[in-house]
Amino acid sequence: MNFFAVLNHWLHLISVVVWIGGTAFQVFVEAPLLKTGDPSYHFLKNISKRFRRIVGPLILLLVVTGGINFGFRRRGYEFVPPGYISALGVKVFLVAIIASLYFFELLGAREEEDPRERTGGEQPILPGFTYTRLTLIIGLIIIFLASMLRQWKF
Ligand code: HEM
Repeated sequence: MNFFAVLNHWLHLISVVVWIGGTAFQVFVEAPLLKTGDPSYHFLKNISKRFRRIVGPLILLLVVTGGINFGFRRRGYEFVPPGYISALGVKVFLVAIIASLYFFELLGAREEEDPRERTGGEQPILPGFTYTRLTLIIGLIIIFLASMLRQWKF
């Protein structure tokens, strides 16, 4: 057993758990609370803001550990099945999409520092969590592809 391969796989999995778990928390716990016009609006928005700060480093970690994962997986094999390469290609493509969603959301959040300014009233515009929902759906598809890759026999 290669300890570095285990450590790398562990880091990959931890990053997935924190990112997709945190995203699921926002969609299933935070979003419904915000819809009720809860007075803790700013507190809940700060939770999302704080979470966004750790997503960037997580994406970087996922890309690096993912590449190393592939290196270990194909070690000792002359031939990697084209089906495996295609599934991995789709996975990387989907990762690029959710990473772009993250950057779009980041830009949007910078522009909208105080949402009340846009409405001119006391009631802020409620965030739609559109990017977050999309990230969760695509993230779950990526995890499905990851389990397919795991079961692929070379
Ligand atoms: C460019 C980024 C990424 C690359 C290159 C990559 C690559 C890989 C590779 C090669 C494996 C090993 C597959 C095998 O066992 O044959 C793996 C495992 C895994 N990946 Fe990624 N990955 C990336 C990002 C992600 C993301 C964003 C997620 C989740 C949203 C994810 C979820 C997983 C999971 C859950 C496993 C573990 C599967 C298992 O051990 O059963 N990966 N990844």
